[in-house]
Amino acid sequence: MIESAAKAGEIEIKGVGKTYRTGKSVFRALDEIDLTIGANEFVTILGPSGCGKSTLLRIVAGLEEASEGELSVDAESIVGPGADRGMVFQGYTLFPWLTVRQNIEYGPKLRGVPILDRRKISNHYLRITRLESFANHFPKQLSGGMKQRVAIARALANGPKVLLMDEPFGALDAQTKLEMQEALLEVWDKEKTTVLFITHDIDEAIFLSQRIVVMAAGPGRVLREYRVELPAERTPEVREHPDFMKLKRELASLLKHREE
Ligand SMILES: Nc1ncnc2c1ncn2[C@@H]1O[C@H](COP(=O)(O)OP(=O)(O)O)[C@@H](O)[C@H]1O
Ligand SMILES: [Mg+2]
Repeated sequence: MIESAAKAGEIEIKGVGKTYRTGKSVFRALDEIDLTIGANEFVTILGPSGCGKSTLLRIVAGLEEASEGELSVDAESIVGPGADRGMVFQGYTLFPWLTVRQNIEYGPKLRGVPILDRRKISNHYLRITRLESFANHFPKQLSGGMKQRVAIARALANGPKVLLMDEPFGALDAQTKLEMQEALLEVWDKEKTTVLFITHDIDEAIFLSQRIVVMAAGPGRVLREYRVELPAERTPEVREHPDFMKLKRELASLLKHREE
């Protein structure tokens, strides 16, 4: 882990709402969201398309403003984007003209980190995302899964306390998606970063998380929370665990009834 001394990463979301006003139309995208995500916790927000997941994550990222309510990371108010929060999206956001290593070093370089330290940082993140042999490749030479590994490495290279992930594996094929979920847990275990992860995939939510927050639409709000009582070490066999299946049925039924 690099720059670990300052790491904590407790996110507090209090009474957050969001209203979009376009012309005469008013749309309530989020209503009274209250959530606390503990330092080093892995929490997934699960919900159907349009329930406000991305809006909430963008607000936590500081890319969008809440209409009301308060947000903080380690008791510091969120007023805009910051290096304490790293983002990974579904779309590939790598710089195509930079190599994998240069993409990872981009943030540290902007912050004026000296070259030798930058090299240390990129070596570390190349290693933990298992990209060492791809350091000099360009994004277009990589598979979708590899690109998302770089996106994770690049976000972590800035030493964030919190990783915000918006359906990062949504565009990957089923097999790659499973591999990336395991890779992410491995990274999370090593980096001790708080993760707030968004998905509409029930299996993905259960496999990854310690806690699942289910959202519903109309207006976007928190419906229920579940603690995932599965072994801390998530091997692929966890998917066949009776508790996994039970929670899967519960979540599927909850989401299904909401749609009817
Ligand atoms: N900039 C915007 N202006 C107006 N409505 C928006 C805007 N951004 C999102 N919305 C609406 O807010 C709702 C929630 O969107 P979003 O957060 O993207 O949902 P999700 O990520 O859960 O699919 C959607 O109905 C969407 O159309
Ligand atoms: Mg979304």
